[in-house]
Amino acid sequence: MSIVTPRLFAIANLISDGEVVADIGTDHAYLPIYLAKSGHVTKVYATDIAKKPLQVAKNNIQSFAVSDKVQPVLADGIEWFKEKRIKISSCIIAGMGANTILEILKKDHEFIDCYVLAPNTDVEPLRRWVKKNKYYIETETLVLDNEIIYEIIKVNKFAGHKVKSKFDLFFGPILSKTKNNALLEQKLYLEEQKIISLLNQIPKKDKKYKQFMKKKKLINKLLKKEKTNVKS
Ligand SMILES: C[S@@+](CC[C@H](N)C(=O)[O-])C[C@H]1O[C@@H](n2cnc3c(N)ncnc32)[C@H](O)[C@@H]1O
Repeated sequence: MSIVTPRLFAIANLISDGEVVADIGTDHAYLPIYLAKSGHVTKVYATDIAKKPLQVAKNNIQSFAVSDKVQPVLADGIEWFKEKRIKISSCIIAGMGANTILEILKKDHEFIDCYVLAPNTDVEPLRRWVKKNKYYIETETLVLDNEIIYEIIKVNKFAGHKVKSKFDLFFGPILSKTKNNALLEQKLYLEEQKIISLLNQIPKKDKKYKQFMKKKKLINKLLKKEKTNVKS
């Protein structure tokens, strides 16, 4: 049995050979251990704000004999790397809500080149952050894990796709252009169902009603495009 779930495996796939990686909120440190065991990263910092998970991480790092490559760090967010003047090529922040990730990203600094963000909640607030900071989206991917569809984005400070429109914000500048993407279609259908149920609970006069209607229209537009793509 692998120590990584499909979600963690999809995140690991976004890391390239020779990288120096930070995994913020590592918990059990399974992802850093997997990256070290697979052999192609130079170093992984496995950080957590809490002592208990970090102790579990330390035990796992020892059991899997990867102490030469994985360094556990007790730290809040990403400031530690600036204080220590350590350059990180990819900083992973996964398995938290988008708001917690945004709190961590408030301390964004020049020692981090790129972020791999995998929230448990909607990615849209993170794309807003990318747009505001004039950063780029390098990769967007969807993964099905334990019956949940997770969205993972790789954010680059130097090159990639810009987040320009509402379409980009909601569905992603890369994902919205993919063809025959069954997971995207499934995700859009689920979102549409959620919006329909919300629309049934809100009075038509409510400001949110209009917002949800707009989003529903965008979803329908993208679903139509997806269907046309499947046919062609
Ligand atoms: C649900 S676990 C996610 C574990 C792993 N990253 C994953 O994706 O499966 C969230 C972890 O993030 C840690 N955490 C929350 N806020 C943090 C912060 N500001 N800095 C570092 N770690 C944080 C928690 O202590 C917890 O261990």
